[in-house]
Amino acid sequence: LITDVRLRRILDSRGNPTVEADVLTESGGFGRAAAPSGASTGEYEAIERPASEAIAAAREHAVPRLVGEVYAGNQREVDGALRAADGTDDFSKIGANSAVAISMAAAKAGADVLGAPLFQHLGGTFRGRDFPTPLGNVVGGGEHAADATDIQEFLSAPVGAPSVADAVFANAAVHAKVSDLLAERGVACGKGDEGAWAPSIDDDEAFELVDEAVSAVSEEVGFEIGFGLDVAAAEMYDDEAGVYEYSDTTCTTDEQIEYIATLVDEYDLVYVEDPLDENDYGAFAELTDRVGDKTLVCGDDLFVTNTERLATGIDRGAANSILIKPNQIGTLTDAFDAIELATEHGYDSVVSHRSGETEDATIAHLAVATDAPFIKTGAVGGERTAKLNELIRIADDAT
Ligand code: PGA
Ligand code: ZN
Repeated sequence: LITDVRLRRILDSRGNPTVEADVLTESGGFGRAAAPSGASTGEYEAIERPASEAIAAAREHAVPRLVGEVYAGNQREVDGALRAADGTDDFSKIGANSAVAISMAAAKAGADVLGAPLFQHLGGTFRGRDFPTPLGNVVGGGEHAADATDIQEFLSAPVGAPSVADAVFANAAVHAKVSDLLAERGVACGKGDEGAWAPSIDDDEAFELVDEAVSAVSEEVGFEIGFGLDVAAAEMYDDEAGVYEYSDTTCTTDEQIEYIATLVDEYDLVYVEDPLDENDYGAFAELTDRVGDKTLVCGDDLFVTNTERLATGIDRGAANSILIKPNQIGTLTDAFDAIELATEHGYDSVVSHRSGETEDATIAHLAVATDAPFIKTGAVGGERTAKLNELIRIADDAT
């Protein structure tokens, strides 16, 4: 039985305050987790409140429904109590940041009571034998860095890696190779919010550079490394004009579909996230129809980890994979339900970090527990390596 829920403000990787939760149980179980935070957030995400307000609201409304009332190991009851305490669809009362921190901390306390690793408590006992392939952000811009590429993320995808550790090291090597290639070209640059290089180059140049980096590292390590994108196209889309705005051009929806389809062919892209606006299921369906048999078309802002939005996408044939961010929907239960619905309909799940992160590594366990084929959690940087190194440890313990 949960005996205490403690909430505090801690720092995230951007230096902003975020919510951390501790959950304590009668039998001595303990779990601690923290909420991440997005910058290119989807219009339909659950609501993140300012950390101090989210904490105050959760203390008033949620904590009394948990302490002495619910077992930490009963995740659906914990998350049901959070939903009941909030009473809205989007967690706008207690904040999705408080909700997700408590939900994940309860899961960890539940695992602690059992003395089991978190992935196993989350259902991982019956998992398959494959580990998720990490997608590593190596070049980026958009909302994550000023004066860099229009496309938000260029992602190294070591699809041929023999182990999760090999994949993690391959992504770091691609990240380093990109730095070398930039130096050769005389381009100096810093990093964006997720640790990817943020050079002031145009997207065409970035494609050439990343293509060269993944090919070079692939040759070195001896297995296939492809790459993919998070276009984060909702951030580029001008609703009124009905066009996608790039630094030097604009395109109509048809032109955007054509552009992405051409990129998929030219660079053999293995993954394309949010290539179109978050309200345009029709355009997503058209692109999926064209390229869905050769690449993953993933909905992030489109689906926001929400089963209702995913059901609409399934109905309409929009995308063939879904990004899973627990804080987009508010609880682990909701994230699980989205993964389950996706799997039932042949959609691949990609468990993901946010641009604002903490050292919390829950998503590594979530990806392993649910047999997600991919996890997107950066390539370098402490808040990213927290998850990547946890994946290596889980694989080491399990094999
Ligand atoms: P965000 O970006 O965390 O800033 O929303 C990540 C993504 O778009 O996938
Ligand atoms: Zn995204």
